[in-house]
Amino acid sequence: MPTVTSIINLKGGVGKTTLTIALAHFLAIEHHKRVLVIDLDPQTNATVCLIPENEWKQRDETGRTLYQFFADQVKGTRRFNVDEAIVRDVSNIGGGVRGLDLLPSSLRLIKVQDRVTQLTDFENYERGPIFAMRDALGEFLPYYDHVLIDCPPSLGIITLNGLAISDSYLIPVVPDLLSVLGIPPILDRVDHFGMATRRNIRALGIIISKMRAQTLLHNEMQRRLREDFVDRRFPPVFQTIIPESTRIAEAANVLAPVHTLQQKYGTGGPYEDLSELTREYLANVAR
Ligand SMILES: Nc1ncnc2c1ncn2[C@@H]1O[C@H](COP(=O)(O)OP(=O)(O)OP(=O)(O)O)[C@@H](O)[C@H]1O
Ligand SMILES: [Mg+2]
Repeated sequence: MPTVTSIINLKGGVGKTTLTIALAHFLAIEHHKRVLVIDLDPQTNATVCLIPENEWKQRDETGRTLYQFFADQVKGTRRFNVDEAIVRDVSNIGGGVRGLDLLPSSLRLIKVQDRVTQLTDFENYERGPIFAMRDALGEFLPYYDHVLIDCPPSLGIITLNGLAISDSYLIPVVPDLLSVLGIPPILDRVDHFGMATRRNIRALGIIISKMRAQTLLHNEMQRRLREDFVDRRFPPVFQTIIPESTRIAEAANVLAPVHTLQQKYGTGGPYEDLSELTREYLANVAR
């Protein structure tokens, strides 16, 4: 079975999607892993980082995105077909990366999410489609080595569907005060969900992202994060830090034709950091 990891933070804009996409690329290309990215965010950012927007649109209109999956849950229909919805060999590197697949999201998830929420019992999760995704993906997951789930900045019913198939989760943070304060509520809520559903969902670690090394604040917060890890039983903080870098932001453009990871992310910093992060991720998963 694959390692299934959700990338979570209740805070927006901390680099969840960017890290998901980078890890997926490095795992597939540098480590020859079979990787599935599941985009659970109605913003569809991971989706449009991996396939062109017009392709997404066509798929969305023909029931081949996660909108149809959740709509089926609400309407009691069975139109969604996982095999048809998975987009294979995605990315702008070399016209597509072998073994890098995507289960695309949809802007229409926003609307359907409210209706799925109404069906759900959030106290003990005994009612509502919490395990719908686990059931639907069951036979496809063993094909992959790694499944990475890009979550929206919330722990609503859609994120919980992702957690229900996850072995572990990663918390990207920008090293500033509000981001650090946001960590304990995430740990508590994932713990609660894990206990209520009798799953062990391991906090693999905190990843410092969008770091501005020249600022006092970011340095101070980085230090605090590492110390709080000891004092307050935070999950470990990854040694590798992802700097704020224009090249990393630009790598989101799936329409730019490139041939290598070095071209996509830029050498002399970003490429090396992301490569190191991926090695650290693999080491943490194996522990
Ligand atoms: N290391 C980085 N250097 C520079 N820009 C970055 C970096 N990481 C992310 N960004 C940019 O910051 C913005 C937010 O990043 P991203 O979309 O990955 O965050 P997110 O946590 O997924 O946000 P959301 O909560 O909205 O899903 C994007 O414009 C992205 O390009
Ligand atoms: Mg995102």
